[in-house]
Amino acid sequence: MTDPIHTELVKISEANGVMEIVWNRPDKKNALSNAMYRAATAALARASEDKSIRVVLIASEGDSFTSGNDLADFAAAATGGEAPAAHAFIETLIQFPKPIVAAVSGLAVGVGTTMLLHCDLVFAAIDAKLTTPFVNLALVPEAASSLLLPARIGHARAFAMFAMGDAVTGAQAAQLGLANAALPKEEVLAAAREAAAKLAQRPIGAVMAAKKLMRDGERLLAQSRTEGAIFAERMRSAEAMEAFTAFREKRAPDFSKL
Ligand code: COA
Repeated sequence: MTDPIHTELVKISEANGVMEIVWNRPDKKNALSNAMYRAATAALARASEDKSIRVVLIASEGDSFTSGNDLADFAAAATGGEAPAAHAFIETLIQFPKPIVAAVSGLAVGVGTTMLLHCDLVFAAIDAKLTTPFVNLALVPEAASSLLLPARIGHARAFAMFAMGDAVTGAQAAQLGLANAALPKEEVLAAAREAAAKLAQRPIGAVMAAKKLMRDGERLLAQSRTEGAIFAERMRSAEAMEAFTAFREKRAPDFSKL
């Protein structure tokens, strides 16, 4: 079941074998709050079990795919508040057995990009902007991206994305193998829906078996847990607190004295 209070922040619908999970917090650039992660995690868990759901499509409302984890939730967790619900979402995504299609327009920050490494077909707007600026926040990569991103695009490019905050456009993402196609943004959702509808017609047993063969789920889960332990440590660091505070105060962080 999705969290009824926050259901509107993640729109979940099902039709013709496809479950759509749509980030719907456009005023915050679809920053993912704990409640949103919980809603999406519950939806994925249901999709995994429900035979009538054959494909999941992840998309967004507004001008951004997502600006990543809600930084207020990160700051709260760092000072002893609720633990981030991102971990359960990521682990569910890593283990999700059915095909996932993503429609990406605008910004895909942090987990907005790393979740794409667990999607099977990705349609991006030509001018989408994919970033993984974990080090900007004094954090480290998550969701097994420290393994998957260099494997996809090479160490040098992945390091520049992680450590320097370099962005990749949707057009570059398609060239680099992070996306299947880069399209004008008004065509992205339709293309993703068309692909999801086609996938839903395929023999699902074979599709799932192919997906399983292509991914070392145990290795990915282990990597994600290793990252998670370091991430949790980093979140409590003075550097990360400075980054979260600077974001809240709408200023550049100053790491020079730390
Ligand atoms: N967590 C919480 N709130 C966020 C957010 C996030 N990750 N990203 C954006 N927001 C909020 C902003 O605080 C702002 O809220 P306000 O209108 O109440 O002030 C609103 O969304 C719009 O963001 P704004 O910064 O004004 O838009 P922008 O177009 O100038 O910049 C971003 C967009 C995404 C580049 C910028 O907001 C940003 O860098 N966000 C943090 C991204 C991040 O580090 N994510 C975690 C990665 S691990």
